[in-house]
Amino acid sequence: MTVIITTGGRFDEQSEQLAAQAASILGYPVVERKKRSVIRLQQDYESDVIVAGKDRFELYRLGMDEPFFFHPNSAGFRLKRLLKGESDPLVEVSQLKHGDSFLDCTLGLASDSIIASSITGDNGKVTGVEADPAVAFITGRGLRTFLTDSTQLVQAMGRIDVIHSEAVKFLREQADASWDIVYIDPMFHAPITESSNFTALRQVGVHSLLTQEWMEQAQRVCRRRVVVKDRFDSPVFEQFKLEQKIRPNTKFHFGFIEK
Ligand SMILES: C[S@@+](CC[C@H](N)C(=O)[O-])C[C@H]1O[C@@H](n2cnc3c(N)ncnc32)[C@H](O)[C@@H]1O
Repeated sequence: MTVIITTGGRFDEQSEQLAAQAASILGYPVVERKKRSVIRLQQDYESDVIVAGKDRFELYRLGMDEPFFFHPNSAGFRLKRLLKGESDPLVEVSQLKHGDSFLDCTLGLASDSIIASSITGDNGKVTGVEADPAVAFITGRGLRTFLTDSTQLVQAMGRIDVIHSEAVKFLREQADASWDIVYIDPMFHAPITESSNFTALRQVGVHSLLTQEWMEQAQRVCRRRVVVKDRFDSPVFEQFKLEQKIRPNTKFHFGFIEK
């Protein structure tokens, strides 16, 4: 798979600088836009295209109509609910509290990490690992630059460290019992209707199966709970002897293993 980076439709210096920044991190070439459409660029270069705009980066894989870009998605309204004193299923199943460390093995759009970070706070630590380089870059940048009036959201996003790596590779490098919570939300196999940004993530992200080694490594590095999210009917809950939290009328369930 090849990827090129270009600027938005209208030339401006800032976008050119952003394209150059992305190229230096991702190692993909920058191509002059020359007023070409994204589809035209995809055809000319037989490549996926990252567009560096003033406000955000967009990723168009070959064949995608709608781009992938960072947006806090559900994290915005989940955070509002938490601030009103309501509960959140991820926080509950993880038994998260202020000061905890939370390792998210499958960062994606970081919605779950944002919620975790809002709880773990200044004294805690949230790290998100993402296997796809373009997703890691776009989410990592979005977490630092997304404009919102919510101070809590800005702070929660700003505390998340993003690491581009395959999860098992990263886990192998971690010390025993070094994270309070290890969280895994791999790409579900059978699609479920979801927000359009998650649909785009499904098209751009890596699809992984939860493996024996992944679970073993997660348990080794974890101090309290390994938490897994998957479809309610996923075989992983039984396969890895996870305690499945049944949430009536919800398509995604959490399962966990306690240390
Ligand atoms: C279902 S999404 C996670 C969504 C995330 N929980 C959120 O709130 O936005 C899965 C993400 O994990 C990434 N991924 C899949 N397998 C991975 C692996 N083995 N290592 C690291 N990241 C992986 C995918 O590229 C995708 O971005």
